Parts: sequence; C-alpha cells; structure tokens
Amino acid sequence: MGDRISVSDLRKYKAAGKKIAALTAYDFYTSKILDRSDLDMILVGDSLGMVFQGKTTTIPVTVDQIIYHTKIVVDATARPLVVADMPFGSFQISTEKALENAFRIMKETGCNAIKIEGGERVVSVIEKLTESGIPVYGHLGLTPQSINEFGSYKLRAKNNEEAETLKRDAVLLEKAGVSGIVLEKIPAALAKEVSGSVTVPTIGIGAGPFCDGQVLVITDMLGFDPDLNFKFVRKYTDVNTIITEAVNEYINDVKKGTFPSDKESY
Ligand code: KIV
Repeated sequence: MGDRISVSDLRKYKAAGKKIAALTAYDFYTSKILDRSDLDMILVGDSLGMVFQGKTTTIPVTVDQIIYHTKIVVDATARPLVVADMPFGSFQISTEKALENAFRIMKETGCNAIKIEGGERVVSVIEKLTESGIPVYGHLGLTPQSINEFGSYKLRAKNNEEAETLKRDAVLLEKAGVSGIVLEKIPAALAKEVSGSVTVPTIGIGAGPFCDGQVLVITDMLGFDPDLNFKFVRKYTDVNTIITEAVNEYINDVKKGTFPSDKESY
C-alpha cells in the first residue's frame, strides 16, 4: 500500500484545517497524470455513465462497470485515496446485497473506500458496511441517482425543511461511521453549517467554499464539453479546443502530404 493517502489522513486534514482536493477519474492516462500531482483523492464516480458513456443519467451504471474503471484507476496510481461509487441498485435491495457488492468492489479493485448516495434511508446499510471494515463516504444534497425523484439537477435544500433534513442526515451519517460526506449543489451557508456540525470532512461540489474539500468531475473542469456552463464548475483549460485544433492540424498535414516527414519515417 505504501504511502497512499488514507481516509484517516483526510480526517486529520480537517482537524488541521488543511483542504482536501479531489477529482473524478475513470481511465489510465488521466489517473497517471493525477497520481503525479498533489491531488488527495480520486473518485471513480458513477458520473462515468454520463461523461464516459454519454448516457443522460447515472442510473444505468453497473457494479461491473464501476469495478472495471476503479481497477484501472487503482492500478495506475500509488498516492491518492481512491473512492468508488456504489451505483444505483447496488445497495437498495438488502443490506446483504449491499455488503456483497461493496466487498466485490473493494476486493476486485483494491480501492480504499466506497461512496453511497442518500441520507436516513441508507443509514442502516452504512452502519453495516462500516462495522464490516469498509470505509464509506456519504453523499447528500443533489444526489444524481435520485434524478427521477427530483426531476432536475437544480440546487437542493433551498427551503428550510429540506435544509433541516440534510443537517439531520449529515449527523446520522457521521454516527453511522462515514469517513466523510460529499455535499452536492446546496447553498454555501448550509454547507458551512453542516461542515461545522460534523467531525468528518465534507467535500463539496457546487456547495461553496466552506467545505473541508472540493471535488469536480474532471471532464467538466478540463473543458471537454463546450456547451457545459454550470455555475459551480471552473474550467481550468479548454480541452475541447486543444483537441479540435490538434486533430484539424493532423488532418491538414495528412491531406497535404506533410505528415509523416522523412524524420518520422523508417
Ligand atoms: O459520480 C460522481 O462523479 C460524483 C461526484 C459528482 C461527487 O458523485
């Protein structure tokens, strides 16, 4: 295992006031790049259904797909904590089935923790997993697996009732033994309150600056999709333009006969 960052390291970050930087990843080359950076955590999110497979929701993602991508990410990295998502349908049937799926994901990929979306209704499952030695991250606020209940990907917990439920859920998740909680697309003031009410780190995505860490979907922050303009995503580069220009240059060179050159030939 060597020097891989652990869930307990990230709890210490919170105690020390040190922010956690996390990104998603699903493939070998990206994971290699992230491994050479100072990133603390890679989440193999079920967002892979949308940004890797081009589906409109995360619902179709399977345990086998999570295992496939997570194993690639784990094998490509030595340093960051690797967390795998429990996909829709993998933890709802029964606690036994949830345990079986979580054990499969841990054993077949070598990841360090799993993440489960939901509040009170997943508490008993999380208790069982954490009692069994599986580090678990919770996920509250906009939980994309609930898209068919929510009906949109809009900001969550705007009203008092939902905010109160979320605050209560965060405390319940901590009591159930989670190692941290992802807070997605909720008001910054609420995320601040939640972060102050639990001892485990909160990792925000669209949840403002007061969380103990931040996570973004890597393809969003790299600018793969020119049409994506979520308020909470800062695009750190414009990979769409970079790739488009490179591909067009290559096509021109091939058509003109200037690629390959003598130096590029045997
Ligand atoms: O699936 C995912 O990538 C996630 C992040 C957006 C937190 O759950």
